[in-house]
Amino acid sequence: MHLQSLTLLNYKNINHADIKFSAKLNCFLGDNGAGKTNLLDSIYYLSFSKSFFNSMDSQNVKHGNEMFMLQGKYFRQNDNENISVGYKQGHKKQFKRNKKQYKRLSDHIGLFPLVMISPSDTTLILGGSDERRKFMDGVISQFDKSFLEALLKYNRALLQRNNLLKYFAENRNYEEDTLLIYDEQLIEYGTIIYTKRKKFLDEMIPVFQHFYNFVSGGKEIVSLHYESTLESNNYREQLLNSRAKDRMSHYTSTGIHKDDLKLGLGDFPIKKLGSQGQTKTYLLALKFAQFEYLKNAGTINPILLLDDIFDKLDANRVGKIIELVSDDQFGQIFITDTNREHLEGILNRISTEYHIFRIEEGKVIHS
Ligand SMILES: Nc1ncnc2c1ncn2[C@@H]1O[C@H](COP(=O)(O)OP(=O)(O)OP(=O)(O)O)[C@@H](O)[C@H]1O
Ligand SMILES: [Mg+2]
Repeated sequence: MHLQSLTLLNYKNINHADIKFSAKLNCFLGDNGAGKTNLLDSIYYLSFSKSFFNSMDSQNVKHGNEMFMLQGKYFRQNDNENISVGYKQGHKKQFKRNKKQYKRLSDHIGLFPLVMISPSDTTLILGGSDERRKFMDGVISQFDKSFLEALLKYNRALLQRNNLLKYFAENRNYEEDTLLIYDEQLIEYGTIIYTKRKKFLDEMIPVFQHFYNFVSGGKEIVSLHYESTLESNNYREQLLNSRAKDRMSHYTSTGIHKDDLKLGLGDFPIKKLGSQGQTKTYLLALKFAQFEYLKNAGTINPILLLDDIFDKLDANRVGKIIELVSDDQFGQIFITDTNREHLEGILNRISTEYHIFRIEEGKVIHS
């Protein structure tokens, strides 16, 4: 699959742009604040029916205007496809595939798969465990609707169970049978989620390690482990064992909402000792593995957005990444950079077809 052309109107700092892309490699080049990330974000929007950064559409409208519009023309499974979004302040957005509006936006997710690598991804390593669960869940739900459904049901049961624990405490009563209803729901949906997360990681971890070794030139050993309370014991027994504690704290202390990923460099957590370049390499390898997984899980090659990836990486690693992404296993790629000489030096080394676009104060200039 690839994006053939993109039209933007009043999206963030971009007033109007009509861009035709290469099916392989596209580079957005420009100064800080020019609008490079905004352009990537508009491409992200067409795949996920929302911005990577702002969930509030009013913030995506160019200041001083009332509406924004995005339209992408794709070539996908031998067909031309047209995805568009129009938003006017105070109105519901119109998100359409081939001029037909979606009843549910979630039906669109996964049809035009995309992986974005952004500087803000460092939260995956430096942030709390919820960031890492969001990462796993985001990848799996892009192609597995039953996973997403189980997750929504689990979260609802969890909320209700916690509310019930609070209610018991406030009213000084306790009905075991009601609590057991929610326990059974947590067990049912939690087991589905655990099994699918585990399968995802079993497949993803070796691919991740392969990519890390490739980019780092085999210099460091990295590890990644899935930690879940469901892995060792019987979950029903755990809920029972932690019941007294849960009643005291009004909170369900065990289950897949406590899962985490243990990210290691050598014998230590990367969070504690990874250098900036090592952390970046770790993230890139994770995201490349995510790409591989999505590609193999479906039949469509995802679009890859690489925002500022060369920052903090030494020349060897940059060379390796270019070697990697220019390979045929990746499809269409969008890269941003601030330094023209830097980028051209890199692109001279590969034979892949590419387009460079200069971005200046929200204007897109093909060069
Ligand atoms: N709704 C909006 N209306 C107008 N301008 C906006 C809006 N949202 C963001 N901007 C502006 O867009 C600019 C940022 O663009 P962007 O993040 O794409 O820059 P960039 O080219 O990626 O820069 P860098 O190299 O620093 O990453 C900022 O100047 C910001 O104020
Ligand atoms: Mg940027």
